Amino acid sequence: MRVLVAHASAHGSTAEIATRLAQAIAAAGPDVDVRAVADVASLSGYDAAVIGSAIHDGAWLPDAHEFLRTHKAALAKRPTWLFSVSSVGATSSAYGGFGTAVQRRLRRDPRAVYEARRALGHVDHHDFAGVLTPEGWKKSSIRMMKVLGGNFGDHRDWDDVEAWGTTIGGMLATGEANAR
Ligand SMILES: Cc1cc2nc3c(=O)[nH]c(=O)nc-3n(C[C@H](O)[C@H](O)[C@H](O)COP(=O)(O)O)c2cc1C
Repeated sequence: MRVLVAHASAHGSTAEIATRLAQAIAAAGPDVDVRAVADVASLSGYDAAVIGSAIHDGAWLPDAHEFLRTHKAALAKRPTWLFSVSSVGATSSAYGGFGTAVQRRLRRDPRAVYEARRALGHVDHHDFAGVLTPEGWKKSSIRMMKVLGGNFGDHRDWDDVEAWGTTIGGMLATGEANAR
Protein backbone atom coordinates (compact mmCIF):
# COMPACT_ATOMS: atom_id res chain seq x y z
CA MET A 1 0.00 0.00 0.00
CA ARG A 2 1.25 3.48 -0.90
CA VAL A 3 0.06 6.65 0.83
CA LEU A 4 0.46 10.25 -0.31
CA VAL A 5 0.94 12.97 2.30
CA ALA A 6 0.67 16.25 0.38
CA HIS A 7 0.99 19.72 1.86
CA ALA A 8 0.95 23.43 1.12
CA SER A 9 3.22 25.40 3.42
CA ALA A 10 4.25 29.06 3.19
CA HIS A 11 6.93 29.05 5.92
CA GLY A 12 7.64 25.35 6.48
CA SER A 13 5.78 24.34 9.64
CA THR A 14 3.01 22.53 7.74
CA ALA A 15 5.61 20.67 5.66
CA GLU A 16 7.33 19.51 8.86
CA ILE A 17 4.02 18.31 10.30
CA ALA A 18 3.40 16.41 7.05
CA THR A 19 6.79 14.71 7.37
CA ARG A 20 6.10 13.67 10.97
CA LEU A 21 2.63 12.37 10.00
CA ALA A 22 4.23 10.35 7.21
CA GLN A 23 6.68 8.76 9.67
CA ALA A 24 3.84 7.79 12.01
CA ILE A 25 1.79 6.31 9.15
CA ALA A 26 4.80 4.44 7.76
CA ALA A 27 5.38 2.86 11.19
CA ALA A 28 2.13 0.93 10.63
CA GLY A 29 3.46 -0.57 7.38
CA PRO A 30 2.47 1.48 4.29
CA ASP A 31 4.99 3.14 1.97
CA VAL A 32 4.49 6.88 2.32
CA ASP A 33 5.51 9.74 0.00
CA VAL A 34 5.59 13.32 1.30
CA ARG A 35 5.20 15.96 -1.41
CA ALA A 36 4.21 19.60 -1.82
CA VAL A 37 0.80 19.66 -3.54
CA ALA A 38 2.41 21.66 -6.36
CA ASP A 39 4.62 18.65 -7.11
CA VAL A 40 1.79 16.09 -7.40
CA ALA A 41 0.30 15.73 -10.86
CA SER A 42 -1.77 12.60 -10.26
CA LEU A 43 -2.98 10.28 -7.51
CA SER A 44 -2.44 7.18 -9.59
CA GLY A 45 -0.31 4.69 -7.69
CA TYR A 46 -1.62 5.93 -4.33
CA ASP A 47 -4.13 3.95 -2.25
CA ALA A 48 -4.85 6.72 0.27
CA ALA A 49 -4.16 10.42 0.72
CA VAL A 50 -3.55 12.87 3.55
CA ILE A 51 -3.73 16.50 2.41
CA GLY A 52 -2.90 19.52 4.55
CA SER A 53 -2.48 23.26 4.25
CA ALA A 54 -1.38 26.24 6.26
CA ILE A 55 -4.22 28.66 6.98
CA HIS A 56 -3.94 32.25 5.77
CA ASP A 57 -6.82 34.63 6.49
CA GLY A 58 -9.10 31.73 7.40
CA ALA A 59 -8.47 29.81 4.19
CA TRP A 60 -6.30 27.01 2.81
CA LEU A 61 -3.45 28.23 0.60
CA PRO A 62 -4.66 28.54 -3.02
CA ASP A 63 -2.57 25.66 -4.41
CA ALA A 64 -3.94 23.24 -1.78
CA HIS A 65 -7.52 24.38 -2.41
CA GLU A 66 -6.95 23.95 -6.13
CA PHE A 67 -5.46 20.50 -5.53
CA LEU A 68 -8.63 19.34 -3.76
CA ARG A 69 -10.80 20.67 -6.58
CA THR A 70 -8.67 19.17 -9.34
CA HIS A 71 -8.37 15.74 -7.74
CA LYS A 72 -11.77 15.39 -6.07
CA ALA A 73 -12.84 12.46 -8.28
CA ALA A 74 -9.62 10.55 -7.52
CA LEU A 75 -9.80 11.40 -3.81
CA ALA A 76 -13.43 10.21 -3.66
CA LYS A 77 -12.20 6.72 -4.58
CA ARG A 78 -9.54 6.62 -1.84
CA PRO A 79 -9.50 6.95 1.94
CA THR A 80 -8.64 10.63 2.45
CA TRP A 81 -7.78 12.73 5.49
CA LEU A 82 -7.38 16.52 5.69
CA PHE A 83 -5.49 18.73 8.11
CA SER A 84 -5.14 22.46 8.63
CA VAL A 85 -2.27 24.28 10.34
CA SER A 86 -3.05 27.63 11.93
CA SER A 87 -2.64 29.46 15.21
CA VAL A 88 -5.11 27.21 17.07
CA GLY A 89 -4.94 23.43 16.94
CA ALA A 90 -6.98 20.70 18.57
CA THR A 91 -4.54 20.37 21.47
CA SER A 92 -2.25 23.42 21.39
CA SER A 93 -2.53 27.08 20.53
CA ALA A 94 -0.68 30.37 20.07
CA TYR A 95 -3.27 31.96 22.37
CA GLY A 96 -3.99 31.77 26.07
CA GLY A 97 -7.07 30.03 27.42
CA PHE A 98 -9.54 32.82 26.68
CA GLY A 99 -8.22 33.60 23.18
CA THR A 100 -8.14 29.91 22.29
CA ALA A 101 -11.72 29.40 23.47
CA VAL A 102 -12.88 32.41 21.43
CA GLN A 103 -11.05 31.23 18.31
CA ARG A 104 -12.34 27.67 18.58
CA ARG A 105 -15.90 28.92 19.08
CA LEU A 106 -15.84 31.36 16.16
CA ARG A 107 -13.91 29.19 13.75
CA ARG A 108 -15.60 27.60 10.74
CA ASP A 109 -14.10 24.91 8.55
CA PRO A 110 -12.04 26.50 5.75
CA ARG A 111 -13.95 26.66 2.47
CA ALA A 112 -11.64 24.05 0.92
CA VAL A 113 -12.56 21.56 3.67
CA TYR A 114 -16.26 22.37 3.38
CA GLU A 115 -16.14 21.77 -0.37
CA ALA A 116 -14.16 18.55 0.07
CA ARG A 117 -16.77 17.24 2.51
CA ARG A 118 -19.50 17.99 -0.01
CA ALA A 119 -17.58 16.28 -2.81
CA LEU A 120 -16.19 13.29 -0.91
CA GLY A 121 -18.72 12.64 1.85
CA HIS A 122 -17.32 12.10 5.33
CA VAL A 123 -13.71 13.27 5.64
CA ASP A 124 -11.80 13.43 8.89
CA HIS A 125 -10.27 16.89 9.31
CA HIS A 126 -7.76 17.73 12.04
CA ASP A 127 -6.51 21.13 13.23
CA PHE A 128 -2.90 21.58 14.30
CA ALA A 129 -1.25 24.71 15.66
CA GLY A 130 1.86 25.68 13.69
CA VAL A 131 4.73 28.13 13.90
CA LEU A 132 3.76 31.79 13.99
CA THR A 133 6.33 34.27 12.69
CA PRO A 134 5.64 37.99 12.15
CA GLU A 135 6.47 37.84 8.43
CA GLY A 136 3.46 38.43 6.24
CA TRP A 137 1.12 39.52 9.05
CA LYS A 138 -0.84 42.76 8.63
CA LYS A 139 -0.32 45.25 11.48
CA SER A 140 -4.06 45.05 12.26
CA SER A 141 -3.86 41.23 12.52
CA ILE A 142 -0.87 41.45 14.89
CA ARG A 143 -2.79 43.95 17.06
CA MET A 144 -5.83 41.64 17.17
CA MET A 145 -3.62 38.66 17.97
CA LYS A 146 -2.00 40.51 20.87
CA VAL A 147 -5.40 41.63 22.20
CA LEU A 148 -6.41 37.96 22.35
CA GLY A 149 -3.18 37.05 24.16
CA GLY A 150 -1.44 35.47 21.18
CA ASN A 151 2.30 34.84 20.89
CA PHE A 152 4.63 34.23 17.99
CA GLY A 153 6.63 31.00 18.23
CA ASP A 154 6.40 27.25 17.68
CA HIS A 155 3.07 25.98 19.01
CA ARG A 156 3.09 22.52 17.47
CA ASP A 157 2.04 19.58 19.64
CA TRP A 158 4.15 16.73 18.26
CA ASP A 159 2.35 14.18 20.43
CA ASP A 160 -0.93 15.10 18.73
CA VAL A 161 0.71 14.91 15.28
CA GLU A 162 2.12 11.49 16.14
CA ALA A 163 -1.22 10.29 17.55
CA TRP A 164 -3.21 11.36 14.48
CA GLY A 165 -0.69 9.78 12.13
CA THR A 166 -0.70 6.59 14.16
CA THR A 167 -4.50 6.46 14.01
CA ILE A 168 -4.42 6.84 10.22
CA GLY A 169 -1.73 4.17 9.91
CA GLY A 170 -3.78 1.81 12.07
CA MET A 171 -6.95 2.38 10.04
CA LEU A 172 -5.08 1.66 6.82
CA ALA A 173 -3.33 -1.41 8.20
CA THR A 174 -6.55 -2.99 9.48
CA GLY A 175 -8.64 -2.07 6.41
CA GLU A 176 -10.95 0.00 8.61
CA ALA A 177 -10.32 3.05 6.39
CA ASN A 178 -11.70 1.26 3.31
CA ALA A 179 -14.90 0.38 5.14
CA ARG A 180 -15.84 4.02 5.76
C1 LIG B 1 -0.30 36.00 6.02
C2 LIG B 1 -0.70 35.07 7.14
C3 LIG B 1 -2.03 34.93 7.46
C4 LIG B 1 -2.42 34.07 8.50
N1 LIG B 1 -3.75 33.95 8.79
C5 LIG B 1 -4.12 33.12 9.79
C6 LIG B 1 -5.50 32.97 10.12
O1 LIG B 1 -6.40 33.53 9.49
N2 LIG B 1 -5.84 32.18 11.16
C7 LIG B 1 -4.88 31.53 11.90
O2 LIG B 1 -5.24 30.85 12.85
N3 LIG B 1 -3.56 31.61 11.60
C8 LIG B 1 -3.17 32.39 10.57
N4 LIG B 1 -1.85 32.50 10.25
C9 LIG B 1 -0.87 31.68 10.97
C10 LIG B 1 -0.44 30.46 10.13
O3 LIG B 1 -1.55 29.65 9.82
C11 LIG B 1 0.60 29.66 10.92
O4 LIG B 1 1.73 30.47 11.11
C12 LIG B 1 0.98 28.36 10.22
O5 LIG B 1 1.82 27.63 11.08
C13 LIG B 1 1.69 28.61 8.92
O6 LIG B 1 2.11 27.39 8.34
P1 LIG B 1 3.44 27.30 7.44
O7 LIG B 1 4.62 27.51 8.39
O8 LIG B 1 3.39 25.96 6.87
O9 LIG B 1 3.35 28.39 6.41
C14 LIG B 1 -1.44 33.34 9.23
C15 LIG B 1 -0.08 33.51 8.90
C16 LIG B 1 0.30 34.35 7.87
C17 LIG B 1 1.75 34.50 7.53
